[in-house]
Amino acid sequence: MRLLFYFVPLFLLLLKCLFATGVKNITTDQSALLAFKLHVSDPRGVLANNWSISYPVCNWVGITCGARHRRVVAFYLSDMGLGGTIPPHLGNLSFLVYLNISHNHFHGHLPNELGQLRRLRVISLTNNELIGSIPSWIGALSKLRYLFLQNNSFIGPIPDSLFNLSRLQNLDIMYNMIDGSIPSRIGNLSRLMNLNFGYNNLQGMFASTSISSL
Ligand SMILES: *[C@@H]1O[C@H](CO)[C@@H](O)[C@H](O)[C@H]1NC(C)=O
Ligand SMILES: *[C@@H]1O[C@H](CO)[C@@H](O)[C@H](O)[C@H]1NC(C)=O
Ligand SMILES: *[C@@H]1O[C@H](CO)[C@@H](O)[C@H](O)[C@H]1NC(C)=O
Ligand SMILES: *[C@@H]1O[C@H](CO)[C@@H](O)[C@H](O)[C@H]1NC(C)=O
Ligand SMILES: *[C@@H]1O[C@H](CO)[C@@H](O)[C@H](O)[C@H]1NC(C)=O
Ligand SMILES: *[C@@H]1O[C@H](CO)[C@@H](O)[C@H](O)[C@H]1NC(C)=O
Ligand SMILES: *[C@@H]1O[C@H](CO)[C@@H](O)[C@H](O)[C@H]1NC(C)=O
Repeated sequence: MRLLFYFVPLFLLLLKCLFATGVKNITTDQSALLAFKLHVSDPRGVLANNWSISYPVCNWVGITCGARHRRVVAFYLSDMGLGGTIPPHLGNLSFLVYLNISHNHFHGHLPNELGQLRRLRVISLTNNELIGSIPSWIGALSKLRYLFLQNNSFIGPIPDSLFNLSRLQNLDIMYNMIDGSIPSRIGNLSRLMNLNFGYNNLQGMFASTSISSL
């Protein structure tokens, strides 16, 4: 009981310090999402009335929150006619595990801030109009299992860091303008089950193939 007497105020003080130094919470997620909404074009008005502060973030279309911590874990806005560039604010969704914005009209570069999303397991950017090279920060997303970049306008070589993604199971970069060669380090991706490199400018053994169950 005496211990409790000391620890409760200490604990409250600690909490207060954490908040004062700007710990992220669902409010951070909400501002990131509102910034996204402001930034992108949404001709079908999918987000217009739905992503409103009058309703809980966790009920917004395309958004799923974690059962325990109630932070945004999934961002699923595939095929909603969205366009524009991807705003850096998405990098504030620090609990994000699943990102699927496939089949839209996003263009421009991927913002570096996405490299902060260290919990990501799935990224699908399939069928957009994204440009630039595959960023090297992708190799820092050590939990990544699925990476779908199919049918964009990515250029340049596959970054070396990508071969550090030891949990990668599915890699699809088909229909881009990726060049260079496929390094032997690809053999280090021991969990890889699906690999799709076709329709790029790659050289080497696997360059035009699609490989299942390596
Ligand atoms: C989130 O944190 C901020 C301070 O960083 C605080 O003002 C706000 O009340 C918190 N929101 C929730 C829902 O806990
Ligand atoms: C927003 O969209 C979701 C999913 O379609 C729906 O469940 C929810 O009721 C909508 N909210 C509002 C306020 O329209
Ligand atoms: C979210 O990210 C943006 C851009 O990366 C940054 O300027 C902003 O301060 C962040 N907001 C919060 C609430 O963390
Ligand atoms: C992304 O969404 C599309 C459309 O619903 C779906 O077909 C695809 O399987 C999803 N990708 C992943 C990796 O979940
Ligand atoms: C690639 O995406 C464009 C739209 O951005 C679409 O018209 C085209 O059919 C897609 N091609 C393939 C091979 O999926
Ligand atoms: C890959 O990981 C190793 C060890 O974790 C690290 O030293 C190296 O810098 C990483 N390589 C790249 C290209 O990120
Ligand atoms: C492949 O992985 C092994 C063991 O993790 C490591 O020792 C080796 O340096 C890696 N090879 C390359 C080319 O990254």
